[in-house]
Amino acid sequence: MELIDGKAISAQIKLEIAAEVKQIKASGGKIPHLAAILVGHDGGSETYVASKVKTCEEVGFKSSLIRYENNVTEEELLKKVIELNNNPDVDGFIVQLPLPKHISEQKVIETIDYRKDVDGFHPINVGRMSIGLPCFVSATPAGILELLKRYNIETSGKHCVILGRSNIVGKPMASLMMQKAYPGDSTVTVCHSRTKNIKEYCLQADIIIAALGSPEFVRADMVKEGAIIIDVGTTRVPSDKTKSGFKLTGDVKFDEVAPKCSYITPVPGGVGPMTIVSLMKNTLLAGKKAIYK
Ligand code: GUN
Repeated sequence: MELIDGKAISAQIKLEIAAEVKQIKASGGKIPHLAAILVGHDGGSETYVASKVKTCEEVGFKSSLIRYENNVTEEELLKKVIELNNNPDVDGFIVQLPLPKHISEQKVIETIDYRKDVDGFHPINVGRMSIGLPCFVSATPAGILELLKRYNIETSGKHCVILGRSNIVGKPMASLMMQKAYPGDSTVTVCHSRTKNIKEYCLQADIIIAALGSPEFVRADMVKEGAIIIDVGTTRVPSDKTKSGFKLTGDVKFDEVAPKCSYITPVPGGVGPMTIVSLMKNTLLAGKKAIYK
């Protein structure tokens, strides 16, 4: 069994991005600028956004954090999105989700200029991804592809079982794994909360990508010997063993499953650290106008 070390790979990618930013600076080019809009004070969102801003600093990007209280109106938020769309200094921006119930997330996403949508959530980016055109691919699926690539994991002709059908992970992951490309060229099965006999599908999988948000759902008796396991789960399970009072728990019962695998991602330190560097990679592409002019 080989551990897929997302922490180490993400550190390496950060160095690669930093080196490129240095070159851009040296040749008098524009430093990539990522802006983030954060609404309210949700613990998870605060942590993620702080981490995104910190990573911008690490790689040498400019970053801006725009904060609103929970009672911000949809109109005010949309006005800010339009302002960022029109601000030539901002190369890419994100609106951290979830948003308060009185604001339509879809409306916000569709108001973002797809050329600055470094989250890859805009329907134009989602559509272009599904037909294999250059686009911003959302961070978690892009991070998983990068891990498969950097570990030279064969995906062609393999049976990839995806657990979960979210717009952020399950659906794009299925689309990318079936793409005529590497990583890709897999036979894909998507299982979700209404799937009967999930175990039977998992037992046929060469690759399992678990993105259900159901702690320790995947057990040893569901996994074929030699399978590759990518664990996207990050549920905060209460714990009296940690200072924060919770333990980040994956969708895979790691101790039990790991001995059967050829490769497995740990939680934390697997997929998680890759998502932020994927966002940085998209911001670099946006800064270079490498995808859209
Ligand atoms: N909330 C959870 N994941 C994400 C993400 O990748 N981007 C944004 N904007 N919000 C999120």
